[in-house]
Parts: sequence; structure tokens; C-alpha cells
Amino acid sequence: MYHSEHFPFPGVYPRIDPSLPHDRPMSCATQLTERQAWRASLLWFADPAQPNASHEADGLLVTAREADGIVRIQAIGPYRDLAPHYPDLPVTHWPGLCIAPGFVDLHIHYPQTDVIGSPAEGLLPWLEHYTFPHEKQFADPAYAREVSAFFLDELMRHGVTTALCFATAHPESVNVFMAEAQKRRLRMVTGKVLQDRHSPDGLRDTDTALSLRQTEDLIRRWHGVDRLGYAITPRFAPTSTQAQLHGAGEIAQQFPDVWIQSHVAENVDEIRWVSELFPEARSYLDVYDRAGLLRQRSVYAHCIYLDDADRRRMAEVGASAAVSPTSNLFLGSGFFDYAASDAAGLRYGLASDVGGGTSFSPFHTMHAAYTVARQSVGRPGVSLSPEHLWWQHTAGAAAALDLSGKVGNLLPGCEADFVALNPQATPLLARRTAQTETLAEWLFAMIVLGDERLIAHTVVQGQLVKTDQQKPCTS
Ligand code: GUN
Ligand code: ZN
Repeated sequence: MYHSEHFPFPGVYPRIDPSLPHDRPMSCATQLTERQAWRASLLWFADPAQPNASHEADGLLVTAREADGIVRIQAIGPYRDLAPHYPDLPVTHWPGLCIAPGFVDLHIHYPQTDVIGSPAEGLLPWLEHYTFPHEKQFADPAYAREVSAFFLDELMRHGVTTALCFATAHPESVNVFMAEAQKRRLRMVTGKVLQDRHSPDGLRDTDTALSLRQTEDLIRRWHGVDRLGYAITPRFAPTSTQAQLHGAGEIAQQFPDVWIQSHVAENVDEIRWVSELFPEARSYLDVYDRAGLLRQRSVYAHCIYLDDADRRRMAEVGASAAVSPTSNLFLGSGFFDYAASDAAGLRYGLASDVGGGTSFSPFHTMHAAYTVARQSVGRPGVSLSPEHLWWQHTAGAAAALDLSGKVGNLLPGCEADFVALNPQATPLLARRTAQTETLAEWLFAMIVLGDERLIAHTVVQGQLVKTDQQKPCTS
């Protein structure tokens, strides 16, 4: 396997004539086979635990369906070395494009697709005036299905192939989402939101015991089916009674490999409210810890106002933070502290948090994460490297989900979900990326200038699910 110590500069890529279509085929065939090869430049993480990207200017990726029905990566390396081992394999050739891991979104709300861009005086008014009223509509499965379908297609258009996603309090909102994700063969994790107080009629669980039974039923129905996973999903401490939180913790104990997701320490008014509702807890995070909701495979969104004891506790149990910079900026919540999190050994990854977040685009999220880390009010700013930002949205996010080696990378054994980036997607991108001299500069240009136009193709389980310009061709 190839791992370049010395970056082969994008500036010396085989240059392509901009007047030619980017995916100019060597020859064309439409039928995809069970075993395939993909030729382009490649971007991946040779050590998934480290935010150091590897790059191969002319690479080959070989994928195949395995006995369990999952399409996985079989080999990755320089074209010249690998191609002779696969003489009869059809090759999809994308000159000028770069194959990179599908993005992993650590925290997103599918029912808030149509809440994006709703202004409010911070988190709690935003929930009360826009989000809660809107989520009531998901009692209607037909509506939930239409939104699920749009949402999943939108994720794929933006190159996101794995997500940890909130549904709503209505069990059917989980069923229809899972069914739509299954149809698309996506790796998605979701759960029924638990909220049995401080929530309006139509969104509130009126029977706590029933809400917990519904959670168990949904776990049995969906967790581990194809690539679907279940997440026990208390919305946040203020909207759950102690009984509901502890009941959720008992379910978590019964099902050690399901995920847990919630929000923590996002907003100062929210934190004050939590301290009034749970005076016995040492901190907001401690409310979840006491309920048995803090462990491996638990992912908490925001984590802005944690203290060092909280961060160390999350690190100790293997819980992760979903950093949500566009949401934190839009709702005026605050800034995630990267330096303190690193010092505590807290695992984290990037999240859009749509609809508090303002974009499905991983490029917008990475750009916002950089900007937020750089700001130096109240603490020293840090400059996150482009490789680190990219890792936070791919291999790092996968690790935070306990899915390292499964998604977010192109190493052999990973599931075959990837994107093909077109660095010439816009005139400015083409101009700027052509002038970069290092991998870091090249990635940074895409992070700052990129959006879904950069995603020329999205491949899920070896199948093209988004393609712009031309149909895929094989040689
Ligand atoms: N806290 C509780 N619910 C939500 C939500 O839907 N979005 C955000 N950003 N924070 C929350
Ligand atoms: Zn959220």
C-alpha cells in the first residue's frame, strides 16, 4: 500500500485540459460489476487515528461485494503498481478528479431540513418558536417520508454518506427514515427523540413508559439491519424527566452496542435551566452520567461549556463530542475549545447540526470550524490544519462514532462509500487550486471555496448515487 512521505504536489498532477470534460472516458460501459476498480488521484488516512492525509496522484481503488453483501475496499495504491494485479477488472477512470472518503456527519436533524435559516434570540427561543412547532408535523408518516427522501438525497449530493441523525418524538419518523436509508443502502444511525416534559402537545411523550418501550421496539426492529444503527436519543436534559433519562440509561445497558446521542452545554441560558432542574448534578454533563448515558458510542453535540472534569470524564468513558460550528455561530451559542479538548484527550468530530446549522456542506462546516478555532476572544486561537479539518469530518468522525475501519476512510476493509472531488468545479476553484504547492494548500483552497459543486460523484456501496456532468464510464 502506498503512503507518500513526500507530498506529490497537486501542481504537478497530470494537468487536464480545462476545455475537456473532466470525466472524459477511456471507453464506456454502463454495467457496474461486483468487483470494480476506480482510477483517479486518491486522498485517505493511512493511520486513521492521526489527522495526516495521504495522497496518490494517480491511484487505483479496488472494491468488491463480500459474502455479507457489503461492498468493501479491497486495495488502494498507485495505479502503476496495482493495475497489473487486476488485469481484467473494469476501471472507472476519472482523470483530474480526486477520490476521497465519503464524509461523516456526527450530528444532524433530518426533521429540521426546513428549519434552516430560522432566526431567533438564541437556542431556547429558536426551539420554542420554530423547531418544536415544525417537528410536530412528523406525526404524519407521509410527510416524514417525503422529508427523509429529500434529506438523504441532499446528504449524498453533498458527499455525506454516514450520519448520526435525530428523528422526532414520533416512532414513525424513525421507521420511514430507516426505510428510506435502507433503500439507498446508506449507513445511517437514528433514533426516536425522548422528550416527556417542557415540550408542546403533539411533540411531548405523554407516557414515559411507552416512550421507553417504543425505543426498545425500534432498537429490535432496526439496529444492525443492513447498515442501519439505532441511537437512544434523549433530546436534552431539560425536556426529559429523571424517569425518562434513567429509563434510557437502563436500555443503554441492555443494548451495549447501540449509540446514544443528545445535546450538552450548548448555550448559557440552557445551562442555567439545567442547573435549576437538576440541582444534585455536578454539571450539565453529570446529569447524563448519573443516568447511565455516558459511555463508548455516546455522542454529545456542542460541548461548548464543559469544564476540564467533564472533558476528562468523556475521554475516560470513550464518549465523543460533535462539534457543530455553523450552528454555534448561527444561534450565537459559543465556541468549541479545541485546545482544552485535546489536552483532556476528548474525542470529537464535525457535524452540520442542520437545522440550527446552516448548511449540509462539509466544506462549509470545515471552514466554519477553522474560523471558530482561530478566534481568540477569551482564549488563544489555534490554526487547525486542513488535514485535521478533513479528518474531523471523515476518519476522525468515524472514530468518534466507534466506526473506525468501517467508514470515513479508503483503507482496505472500509465500506465502499466515497466521493470524487473536482477541484476545477468553479472558475475560482480551478484558478486557486492550480496555484497550490502543497497538499495542505490544495485542501485548504477546497475547504474555503468549496460547496456541493466540488462533489463530482458520490459512490455508496460501489454504486454511483450522485453524478454531475457525464455518466460514469469504464475502460
Ligand atoms: N437542544 C435541544 N434540542 C436541540 C436542537 O434541536 N438543536 C440544537 N442545536 N440544540 C438543541
Ligand atoms: Zn442538534
